[in-house]
Amino acid sequence: MNKHPRIYLDNAATSWPKPEAVYAAIDRYQRNIGAAAGRASYEQAQVASRTVEQTRTACAQLLGITNPQQLAFTANGTDALNLAIHGLLKPGDHVVTTVCEHNSVLRPLNHQAANHNVTVTYVGCDSQGYVDPQEIAQAIQPHTRFVAITHASNVTGAIQPIADISRLAHERDTLVLVDAAQTAGCLPLDVEHLGIDILATGGHKGLLGPLGTGLLYIREELAKSICPVRQGGTGTHSHDETQPLEMPEMLESGNLNVPALAGLGAAVQFLNRQPDSDRQALQTKQLLDQLTEIRGLRIFGPRHDQPRASVVSFSIEGYDPQEFASVIDVTHGIQCRAGLHCAPRMHTALGTDQSGGLVRLSPGWATTDEDIEQAITAIAALAAVPAI
Ligand SMILES: Cc1ncc(COP(=O)(O)O)c(C=O)c1O
Repeated sequence: MNKHPRIYLDNAATSWPKPEAVYAAIDRYQRNIGAAAGRASYEQAQVASRTVEQTRTACAQLLGITNPQQLAFTANGTDALNLAIHGLLKPGDHVVTTVCEHNSVLRPLNHQAANHNVTVTYVGCDSQGYVDPQEIAQAIQPHTRFVAITHASNVTGAIQPIADISRLAHERDTLVLVDAAQTAGCLPLDVEHLGIDILATGGHKGLLGPLGTGLLYIREELAKSICPVRQGGTGTHSHDETQPLEMPEMLESGNLNVPALAGLGAAVQFLNRQPDSDRQALQTKQLLDQLTEIRGLRIFGPRHDQPRASVVSFSIEGYDPQEFASVIDVTHGIQCRAGLHCAPRMHTALGTDQSGGLVRLSPGWATTDEDIEQAITAIAALAAVPAI
């Protein structure tokens, strides 16, 4: 066991700790309710169903979605992206995506390209990690089904201009699929206002719910054109052997992870009660400003005065990124993520793929100013004594 107190700076992977109310809601459900949702009429089964629907409504409100029924629960962000990508594409379709994407987008698209005659265009980004909406527009072809783009990169934190991209895509009759894994719950995100057609995210990062939760929003008019890639019991239309085609049960086959959804509901309530605070943004800015001062350290991503998701990725002379992450954990209890962050094209674009990627710090809602100070001091100390 590490003797140093844990300083968790890996919230871009999953947030920790969760608010107390999240633990309490899961515990309450597991001990006192324990029933499946949407399947029976006894008291606890009704409570389970209500819990799921309350969480759905709370998530929809937070994300600017008018009809909560357009939001399906999934196992995580990857699961939501798979349901959307495989459910929407047909042989012969074309997709525009970007080099900033996570493997949760790249791999389903790669599978479609390798097996289902789908073609994919990858749009590049500038040195700060921004994608140019005009380049996206130029890449759209008559048979482009959708543009798949991350709201904010999990490597650079660059926030993409989604409203502009949606407008340009819609002018060309193309849908927009947004991966909001790094922004939902962290940044203001109004799905309808931004013109997003399909949105996928985990529930366990900025939304502060437990692992095992995710969300997929599909705009109402589109639900008929998505093919449910999973079939099974939904608790509805039980006489019918074909999959129901109504949202959300169309995409929710099998029992939902109700304990985790109880936790997610409590998490979203917690987020709604939080006073608008820019503490996380200030901490990120402090990391950017002070780490820049350290010799041999190079930060990647947007200029420091630009808004970004709470990720700060850097290289440090004299260290392999993985080695640096291990050393700072062992010597200071600072937990961060190093390597390619499941975003290989992003690292190729930054020129960091051949050197083992980057070290990434990601503060979260519970990160204290002292955690940030300690991280900066530890990084400066290690930078002064390179390992290689
Ligand atoms: C940008 C991005 N997309 C997708 C995912 C996948 O999310 P999940 O872990 O919920 O499957 C991640 C997770 O790190 C991510 O950062």
